Amino acid sequence: MSKDIVKIFDTTLRDGEQSPGASMNMEEKIQIAMQLEKLRVDVIEAGFAAASPGDFEAISNIAKEIEHSTVCSLARALSRDIKAAGDAILHAKRKRIHTFIATSPIHMQYKLQMSPDQVIKKAVEAVAYAKTFTPDVEFSCEDAGRSEMSFLKEILDAVIAAGATTLNIPDTVGYRMPDEMGAMIRELCDFVGDRAIISVHCHNDLGLATANSLASVKNGARQVECTINGLGERAGNAAMEEIVMALKTRNDFFGGVDTNINTREIYPASRLVASITGIAPQPNKAIVGKNAFAHESGIHQDGVLKHQETYEIMHPEDIGLDNADTIVLGKLSGRHAFKEKIESLGYKLSDEELNQSFARFKLLADKKKEIFDDDLRAIITDEIVQVPKTFELKNLQINDCMTGIPSAAVTIMHKEEAITDAGIGNGTMDAIFKTIDRISQIPGELKDYKVTAVTQGKDALARVTVKVNFDSELPAFTGHGLSIDTMIASARAYISALNAFVYEKGNKSKRDRGGI
Ligand code: KIV
Ligand code: ZN
Repeated sequence: MSKDIVKIFDTTLRDGEQSPGASMNMEEKIQIAMQLEKLRVDVIEAGFAAASPGDFEAISNIAKEIEHSTVCSLARALSRDIKAAGDAILHAKRKRIHTFIATSPIHMQYKLQMSPDQVIKKAVEAVAYAKTFTPDVEFSCEDAGRSEMSFLKEILDAVIAAGATTLNIPDTVGYRMPDEMGAMIRELCDFVGDRAIISVHCHNDLGLATANSLASVKNGARQVECTINGLGERAGNAAMEEIVMALKTRNDFFGGVDTNINTREIYPASRLVASITGIAPQPNKAIVGKNAFAHESGIHQDGVLKHQETYEIMHPEDIGLDNADTIVLGKLSGRHAFKEKIESLGYKLSDEELNQSFARFKLLADKKKEIFDDDLRAIITDEIVQVPKTFELKNLQINDCMTGIPSAAVTIMHKEEAITDAGIGNGTMDAIFKTIDRISQIPGELKDYKVTAVTQGKDALARVTVKVNFDSELPAFTGHGLSIDTMIASARAYISALNAFVYEKGNKSKRDRGGI
């Protein structure tokens, strides 16, 4: 008997990226897509092809890389969006176009300024056009959570006739209560029958995204849209790890409905997304939070030691947490052991990337006694998911900031030349950033600064994430920097944002000249 499976449609790279401050560069998106494939997600929504040339390029590169998961692009119900989506996923082994239009009275009247009949017409045209690129077409009724049932049925009937194979019912503003959501999905599943798969996409504005998604599965939805760590617009989307582990742990309650997810890849995926976006899940976040499997009180510790299941309904190893804190390598480890370890963490590196990462590892091993998996992930993310290093930090000296005026001397490599300058600032960091501005002659405005410790201990690596605005007409650029020394990590992060800006500027002028 075949298993009853709920498809997992991951939208970390699309809706997740819409999270304030979560924008990612192409290399970072590819790394996440590869991890999503290791997780065995059914569908990867790789982006919104028409949103920008960068999005288009990222989707098209992901489409070429991914072997098993379906690669999908979002598209508004507009022919130019659908064409961009179809072109971006052209090389995917399995491809899907996801087109949407709003169906709630408030969105149709104020946002679209269209009548319900016009909306249906647009939706049908969009689906029919998308079918010319791929047979796998998903249609979403944006703001379905506040749409009228009779209208939903009417538009779904029409798009099924036009060829939609998955019908997504988003609770776009996180408005529904679980019982209501379940009842809506039950009625729509009964209405649609086996003509298409019903999917849900729940936002977390009232903290109910997971509950609403699960209520939908219980009532017949067979695709759930979600993101790693619950990343997403405003309060986020339903968290994949919560949905998958709820279905696994309470399989009895869900009548045997399961997912295709390899749950042991959940924790690595969560770490990867957190380190790339600089947005770490809160410590008490279900499944992947730092404390999710930590037992603090004596009574609990005693219980777990006597019998794990007294206080644990899941095993840490089920999500791949069993060896997360294992000391993996030391300073005597060779290139071969390093390569094997990196491969076991799921990275595919070119020889050059491996050499660079190994050199970084050796430098770190000289300073840090114990190197953990998370240290290696951080090094690799830092080493290989960068845009070209137009500027590179070569040296940094800071003064004794307790007694003197905060100042920094910085040496940066640029076009094979070492440029040194020094400057003062309101604090050491300010002095460093101002000096970098002087050297690059591209002044930036720091919009956000975050520092996290990659692992525990006084000698932990610091990972700094900054957002810097270099041009008022462009969004702020994100940069990451890694070092045992927070000031060095900060300088690297600032330079990495600068490099992202220079790279985007270069691409933009090529595009303007018709080069891309
Ligand atoms: O929340 C939403 O409605 C969406 C759609 C585009 C699916 O993200
Ligand atoms: Zn959404």
